[in-house]
Amino acid sequence: MKEIAKDVLHYENLKTIKYTHLATTIAYARAIGEELGYNENQLTVMQVGAALHDVGKSLIPPAILNKKGRLTDEERKIVNLHSVLGYELLKSLGYGVNVAEIARDHHNPMSKNPMAQIVRAADIYSAMREERSYKKAKSHEEAMEVLKSARVPQQILNALDKRYGKKTFTKPIQSFSIRTAVA
Ligand SMILES: [Fe+2]
Ligand SMILES: [Fe+2]
Repeated sequence: MKEIAKDVLHYENLKTIKYTHLATTIAYARAIGEELGYNENQLTVMQVGAALHDVGKSLIPPAILNKKGRLTDEERKIVNLHSVLGYELLKSLGYGVNVAEIARDHHNPMSKNPMAQIVRAADIYSAMREERSYKKAKSHEEAMEVLKSARVPQQILNALDKRYGKKTFTKPIQSFSIRTAVA
């Protein structure tokens, strides 16, 4: 995909992505990366990938993405394409391979990209720890059980435990520039 026509992009779809969820996903991904010894450059790339992981939703027809009630199998397949569409979109915009692969693999437990695995874990952990209109926030321990059954690698679980196991404390999110991750 070399160029994506403007009229296929539905940026209004991105309003379905909650800012607080994105912000904590970025912060958790950074915390895990810090525990695993990532350097500042790698952390920045991973944070940009975390910020943009669902950007492929802008290429899903709004009528499907915003549908009330159950999706059909066919519609579910179309929504699931947001990962690979995000990958193609980010590549076409000139983002580096890690940012693009984070988008491609953020729902894939078998990903070979360690940054994508971290963002996937951070995404799930964030969703578990936050309160939503239909559910209460889970404790750290409860969230860790969900991550385990989602086949998150042990070293990522250890990093989350080390950072959030005893006390619930989220480090303030460091500022970073989206531009710095453009290859
Ligand atoms: Fe997603
Ligand atoms: Fe998410």
